[in-house]
Amino acid sequence: MPFAIVMHAPGGPDVLKFEEVSVPLPQSHEVVVCHAAIGVNFHDVYVRSGAYKTLELPGVLGIEAAGVVEAVGADVTDFRPGDRVAYVTKSYGAYAEKRVIGQESLVLLPPNVSDEVAAAIFMKGLTAQVLIEQVYRVKKGDWVLVHAAAGGVGLLLCQWARHLGARVIGTVGTPRKAEAALAAGCESVILYREEDFIARVLDITAGEGVQVAYDSVGKDTFFGSLKCLAPCGHLANFGQASGAVEPFEVSQLFPKSNSLSRPNVMEYLRTPTKLREAAASLFDALSANIIQAGEIQSISLRDAAQAHTELESRERTASLVLKP
Ligand SMILES: NC(=O)c1ccc[n+]([C@@H]2O[C@H](COP(=O)([O-])OP(=O)(O)OC[C@H]3O[C@@H](n4cnc5c(N)ncnc54)[C@H](OP(=O)(O)O)[C@@H]3O)[C@@H](O)[C@H]2O)c1
Repeated sequence: MPFAIVMHAPGGPDVLKFEEVSVPLPQSHEVVVCHAAIGVNFHDVYVRSGAYKTLELPGVLGIEAAGVVEAVGADVTDFRPGDRVAYVTKSYGAYAEKRVIGQESLVLLPPNVSDEVAAAIFMKGLTAQVLIEQVYRVKKGDWVLVHAAAGGVGLLLCQWARHLGARVIGTVGTPRKAEAALAAGCESVILYREEDFIARVLDITAGEGVQVAYDSVGKDTFFGSLKCLAPCGHLANFGQASGAVEPFEVSQLFPKSNSLSRPNVMEYLRTPTKLREAAASLFDALSANIIQAGEIQSISLRDAAQAHTELESRERTASLVLKP
């Protein structure tokens, strides 16, 4: 029987157990994917810790992977055994050697995209695509604020926004991360654990503020991000690495006519057509060198707990992938 990382209760990284699991036969529209590389996302930390109660327990974490189709159900038309694929899914189960999944979650991998690169950037790159091309369309000359700019999604956002001609301001936790954010196209980088990022953003933009703030940090930055917005600027709060945002009065948006979104990327990818269009845009951006996957650190699937400890440590800039 194949192995997977099973969690029986929420908690610290040590709740992640390497156990044997059964893999059922694929039903009509399902395929069996044998994983070659599995993506590790901050979302997995929220689910493991219990901040998100979206995984039925006991259950297998993980929302994305790349691998090879091993078997297909009777009504699968889009994929054949041997196809190289990647997927993102709301139904979890990626921290496993192999799994069954509906064909609607899969895309074919282009030959120039390796399994490791796909697992490292598929979900993060789709998130960047949705934020930059759908939630708020970044335009030439826009001031763009990216929090956690040296994180997985952050580095991709900075590169993509810079390519579009935006002027990108990044916030980061450490000087080493500042170097990574500058290399990814940030014009200015703020060490937001030491400096007042609101004052710095207003200073850098000569008092104007930013047209869009991409905020995945949540609790610690949300209200500051609102203060950084230009008139008619948009705040996309797409994560809560520091904790959930406190409730607030919608009327706070009125004085500068600001707008706010709390995007769930999976809703932008909810049909096979939407997923494949976003994936094509992502793979094009990768091929054209608009974005680069950067450093990728591989960790054995059985050591998934170590990957979580590293992700939560805030020390690293490399993307993490699990290898079965
Ligand atoms: N809405 C969606 O559908 C969607 C989809 C994908 C990802 N996301 C979100 O996007 C964000 C980025 O995901 P990722 O996988 O690429 O992670 P990541 O950015 O590589 O890691 C999270 C970063 O958040 C920063 N951070 C700030 N406060 C923190 C705290 N108290 N604890 C830990 N980290 C803290 C850290 O950067 P510094 O050290 O530089 O502060 C850390 O590196 C996550 O919040 C994730 O939930 C949302």
